[in-house]
Amino acid sequence: MSNSIIDRIRNLKEKRKAIILAHYYEEGAIQDIADFVGDSYQLALYGQKSDAPVILLAGVVFMAESVKILSPDKTVLFPDREAGCSLVASSPFEEYLAWKQSFPNPFLVTYINSSARVKAISDVIVTSSNAEKIISKVPHNKTILFGPDRNLGLYLKRQTGRPMELWPGTCEVHVLFSAQKLMKLMKEHPDARVIAHPECDEAILQLAHVVGSTSRLLAEVTRHPGRKFIVATETGIFHQMQKARPDAILIQAPNEKESCSCNDCPYMKLNTLQKIEAALMSLSPEITLPQDILTQARKPLELMMEWSQ
Ligand code: 13P
Ligand code: SF4
Repeated sequence: MSNSIIDRIRNLKEKRKAIILAHYYEEGAIQDIADFVGDSYQLALYGQKSDAPVILLAGVVFMAESVKILSPDKTVLFPDREAGCSLVASSPFEEYLAWKQSFPNPFLVTYINSSARVKAISDVIVTSSNAEKIISKVPHNKTILFGPDRNLGLYLKRQTGRPMELWPGTCEVHVLFSAQKLMKLMKEHPDARVIAHPECDEAILQLAHVVGSTSRLLAEVTRHPGRKFIVATETGIFHQMQKARPDAILIQAPNEKESCSCNDCPYMKLNTLQKIEAALMSLSPEITLPQDILTQARKPLELMMEWSQ
């Protein structure tokens, strides 16, 4: 029997009747061993539809929590407890609740990049791939509150024309792209298509030819006849882009800081094959949430699923 870590993970998966779901921002080797790779919405949907009793989510903790909330009877594992998200950190429950309570007749639309407690007080959850569709369904007599990502909120306000109150959170990775340097790069590569995630600053989004979720950006590289793309999102997605289009030239959008790996999400990149093996071996860390949070957070997540159809 071979002793490689890949083989050991495959054997453990079989033994545990487990599947591995990975986000596009994970390192290539993790994406390659996963049963499914997708954006936040697709991961939640796949987890909900799967019959597997054990799901290991290689992404960040809020993604694993969403799978657990939608499928409370499944064992949901994740490789590293520290795999947080700056948007979750920027929306503490007490303050977010007080913000909601300060508006008359609120309808709280919360980005999936949030804690389970914050989800539990929200009316509907969205991801960047379904937010426009969902916001268009919010009753017009309501005051829409959107959080925690302000850049996505500003983008959605422009796209939907709906007035919205915005929570001031940001993604620490996507706000670091430099619009000034991007303009210079675009002059050097006039044939490149600029594609950006909506968590980027407005100045970047104004320059982009396409703005969308990770799956939308991957679809653009897959389908667009051009060969050159400047990519303003986390570098992990280059793996699937290059697989889909081996001929494509993918250029990282430039960062405010010189020579750093700031286009990597430090939380996504905490996950390793070794930690995945350990989690499948010990069946931990496992997502556990109080029953009341599970019950209350399920409603807005299920509404997201319904309104995304
Ligand atoms: P997607 O839903 O587009 O995959 O984005 C998740 C995320 O965390 C982006 O930073
Ligand atoms: Fe959170 Fe940003 Fe990392 Fe996405 S890239 S998980 S929004 S910190």
